[in-house]
Amino acid sequence: MARNELFIAPSILSADFARLGDAVKLVEQAGADLIHVDVMDGHFVPNLTIGPPVVRALKAITDVPLDVHLMIDNAEATLDWYLDAGADIVVVHAEACDHLHRVVQSVHEAGRLAGVSMNPATPVEALRDILTDVDLVLVMSVNPGFGGQAFIPGSAGRIERLAALCTEVGASPRIAVDGGIDATTAPLVVEAGADTLIAGSAIFGKQDPAGALAAIRAAARTRLV
Ligand code: DX5
Ligand code: ZN
Repeated sequence: MARNELFIAPSILSADFARLGDAVKLVEQAGADLIHVDVMDGHFVPNLTIGPPVVRALKAITDVPLDVHLMIDNAEATLDWYLDAGADIVVVHAEACDHLHRVVQSVHEAGRLAGVSMNPATPVEALRDILTDVDLVLVMSVNPGFGGQAFIPGSAGRIERLAALCTEVGASPRIAVDGGIDATTAPLVVEAGADTLIAGSAIFGKQDPAGALAAIRAAARTRLV
């Protein structure tokens, strides 16, 4: 399978929420390929973050595509809110959508890119029949809900199996990985088949977020073959 160009997607979950605009501008200037926006509902995950008004506000200040990761139950019910707010990529969880195919269709009908995410214990094989319909698959390498957790080691093997499954069914979505990504884990997941690296604390938790982003890219780019 052809590998996509490496994308680095800083997750604003670990940024200073009182200065989100500044955080986005900083990583935009540092060459961020996507801005990853974590939406949590306090039900699907045990944390509550932001919603459509913040997505709309960020859309107004940056041209970097917004990658909106919906960690919410029943995404179908509020999908339009995020589309209207300007999400460029909408990622929903397979575990939280009764009608996953319909959600993906709705995202495409709105002219946006659609992604599907899966938790660490969800079998990779469960996504087989949606792979040819999505633009991105997001492999959670921690249990969703919080930044700063340790990378689950089996995640690299899951990415390998996902990449093989994509080849088998003739699909070529971006393969994103989210959770515990830093300059040490980035090369492992890229070698396994990931091409989109989401990192929160390893970028915004550092004194020099721009330098941290560059270090992750430098550590990973040579492994993308
Ligand atoms: C976790 C979120 C992640 C989070 C990752 O549920 O989906 O996007 O920001 O944080 P780090 O990179 O600190 O593990
Ligand atoms: Zn996320």
